[in-house]
Amino acid sequence: MARVPVGIFDSGIGGLTVAKAITTAIPNVDLLYFGDTTHFPYGDKSADAIRYFSLQISKFLIEKGCKIIIVACNSASAAAYNLLTDFYKSEDVIFINVVDPLVNEVAKLKYESVGVIATKVTIASQIYQHKLKALSQVKAVHALATPLLAPMIEEGYVQNKISNAVLDNYLSDVAFKDIDVLLLACTHYPLIKEEVRSVLHNNIEVLDSTDVVSEVVKEALLTLGHTFDDTTGSRQFYASDVVDSFFKTTELFYKAEIQFEKISIWNH
Ligand code: DGL
Repeated sequence: MARVPVGIFDSGIGGLTVAKAITTAIPNVDLLYFGDTTHFPYGDKSADAIRYFSLQISKFLIEKGCKIIIVACNSASAAAYNLLTDFYKSEDVIFINVVDPLVNEVAKLKYESVGVIATKVTIASQIYQHKLKALSQVKAVHALATPLLAPMIEEGYVQNKISNAVLDNYLSDVAFKDIDVLLLACTHYPLIKEEVRSVLHNNIEVLDSTDVVSEVVKEALLTLGHTFDDTTGSRQFYASDVVDSFFKTTELFYKAEIQFEKISIWNH
């Protein structure tokens, strides 16, 4: 039986939403998660800083034997994915970002007017705007940085007066009135998906990475000869810093208790 170790990383623990989707869709995956909690949030860092962090984290995951590395963080997918594939091209590793699967879904479902919300660095990179506008059926893209959302969600402010007011403020932007679909382009946003739907009020579809990334991971695993069966794979969770409040927050994102091991990779 062939097993292919899979690494996944994020700026912190938000990427656990993606890890959860993958372990649910592919129970026998051997998954190694790295959360860069020391440098969280990436959303308002420079692209250069995110590239440096992503290179170091990928080096760590490659040394751990990962053959697939999922860049679960949208900010890192926007800023660092191209560099990672280029820098590690001689390594035997497939990088998966979370931008292309969402854009491909828009192409498949033939949406014409697309909204995107994400961190400042993701929106400033224009990655979604460029890739979506390159689709022949797309007529309009409206992208908005929503930097209050990730810290708000991480503090557990979901489905309450404050989260509703913040979402209402962001989504009342008139350009969102005519969209067919809103892309939640951030690891944290799956936790507010239902609330986003209700704030939008009408028939706007809402998609996030957890809806689409597992299929891409399955394909990569197949390419590398992974054998799918109904056993449960190993899970390892590393973070570059661990604080007391961690356990409550990780449960919010992964829906199960997890033990994180603190590991320093910066003088690695
Ligand atoms: N993980 C980040 C992303 O998906 C959100 C949190 C942050 O700013 O680091 O863009």
